[in-house]
Amino acid sequence: MSDQYAVIGNPVEHSLSPAIHAEFARATGQDIAYGRILAPLDGFGAAAQAFRAGGGKGLNVTLPFKQEAWRLAETHSAQAREAGAVNTLKFEDGRIAGHNTDGIGIARDLKDNLGCAIRGRRVLLMGAGGAACGVLGALLREMPQRLVVANRTPPKAVALVARFASLHKFAAEGVSAVSYAALAGAHFDIVVNATSAGLAGGMPPLPNDLYAPGALAYEMVYGRRTPFMEFSARCGARTANGLGMLVEQAAESFFIWRGVRPATAPVMRALRMKAEG
Ligand code: ATR
Repeated sequence: MSDQYAVIGNPVEHSLSPAIHAEFARATGQDIAYGRILAPLDGFGAAAQAFRAGGGKGLNVTLPFKQEAWRLAETHSAQAREAGAVNTLKFEDGRIAGHNTDGIGIARDLKDNLGCAIRGRRVLLMGAGGAACGVLGALLREMPQRLVVANRTPPKAVALVARFASLHKFAAEGVSAVSYAALAGAHFDIVVNATSAGLAGGMPPLPNDLYAPGALAYEMVYGRRTPFMEFSARCGARTANGLGMLVEQAAESFFIWRGVRPATAPVMRALRMKAEG
């Protein structure tokens, strides 16, 4: 029987992960089966354990279970510890290993796919929830000149920055937390939208002159053109959505499970063509 993997979440029916991993497996010749598990909101642990008891080798964990996956894991990678959340579980040698590949996913998408270096650049990260927490460490590790976290509820940004500044001492001076109003007059090379505003058809309040020439606006939401992307395009910024991050984080999960690194470009091309109809 093929080794069994799955994505677990609620909701999970629209997840692209099964298609992505099926293509990775085909391209690398790995014999795996990858499904989806809809866990009840109060039943993540039981569903994950049942999958494992049935011989499952690993899970991708999506909303809203990434913190619960952290608690289920018996060991944690450095990236998982940093984010306080787990998006990849590996069942091996009688123990449950927790990883987080979201940060690696966005860093690879920015650098390798979009050709956008982070080192030495001015970066704005919007949001201070789970999505922002999952990528802040990876962005800091790239040594931006400055990294500003803005949030509607500023104390949450302050708490997030304090947590990461103590983990990344080298970057502490270049990291700050602000309200959106405080962005007036500031210019950025990379702006990452890690808020959930786009899912509700909204966007954070941003000044029109936010973007430096040649700037990139990165929307972590994918599958729709959000108000943030429309606004950024009108301001002259280059725009990208989180599809590339999704594929890159999947590739890193695949590597953790199988020890083989799949090429991501063909999968990304196929998904984009599908999205564009
Ligand atoms: P996720 O796991 O997707 O990050 P979350 O932890 O609920 O979800 O965090 C959502 C983030 O989007 C928060 O930073 C939230 O701001 P608050 O902390 O002030 O709630 C942000 N957010 C959601 N809707 C927003 C909006 N319309 N404008 C600005 N920020 C918004």
